[in-house]
Amino acid sequence: MSNKLINGKEIGAQIRLTIQKEVKELVDQGITPGLAVILVGDDAASHTYVANKEKACAQLGIYSELIRLPKETTEVELLAHIAKLNTDAKIDGILVQLPLPKHIDEQHVIESISPHKDVDGFHPVSVGKMLLGQPTFLPCTPHGVMKLLQYSNVEIAGKHAVVVGRSHIVGVPMGQLLLQQDATVTYCHSKTPDLAAMTTQADILVVAVGRAKMIKAEHIKEGAVVIDVGMNRDENGKLCGDVDFDDVFEKVAAITPVPGGVGPMTITMLLVNTLQSAKAKVK
Ligand code: GUN
Repeated sequence: MSNKLINGKEIGAQIRLTIQKEVKELVDQGITPGLAVILVGDDAASHTYVANKEKACAQLGIYSELIRLPKETTEVELLAHIAKLNTDAKIDGILVQLPLPKHIDEQHVIESISPHKDVDGFHPVSVGKMLLGQPTFLPCTPHGVMKLLQYSNVEIAGKHAVVVGRSHIVGVPMGQLLLQQDATVTYCHSKTPDLAAMTTQADILVVAVGRAKMIKAEHIKEGAVVIDVGMNRDENGKLCGDVDFDDVFEKVAAITPVPGGVGPMTITMLLVNTLQSAKAKVK
């Protein structure tokens, strides 16, 4: 059974060992990579994510700064914090935790971050470069999924990859990265009339919609590789993905569990991006 599992915790830990070594080498040259995380308001899930980011930085020797702002913070105040971090030499990466309170224009905030410090890869400059296949900061979750596939020796070229979900953070860039590795890519979303007709054609199925256990055995082709980006609570309050793991397990060639699949990779790739940004200072 276990050889079917794509273990993000293990793969993430392997990558973090490499990061740790590279951070040490940079520190020896007098450069300590630095990440600033801004958290506005008191969203419980965001607090957990942010705490995990802080912990991961500390473990790898990356300097981190957490800026907690009250939910009443105005957009102008938030932009002032970002402007300061944009020119702060200690800071190589800036991450503003999403979602932001409704009165703040998220896109405006994303565009105020220097593209040189855009470790989320959400700035239009980063998105444009990603689409063109130019070196840039890649968004952490899709980048993490590509690493999972690579470390699990999943062939991508010539395969049919189906992406369910079209968010700017995951679905859209996910399809582009798979396309760049020569997959044939299909996007599905809430207006797709017959979801199963599409997903049953997938050699590689990536699901990122945020609906607990919506993908069942009937959606899966025998022998597919399934990547579950979802992080939901089921009816008993237990963490679960967008894929009904128990229902599909017999049919798949490989699958990511939730938790322990994609989740640990997202933070790992944030650290990769922060290191990449710090390394750019050396050249
Ligand atoms: N909220 C949920 N996922 C993310 C992410 O990858 N980056 C940021 N900034 N906020 C998020």
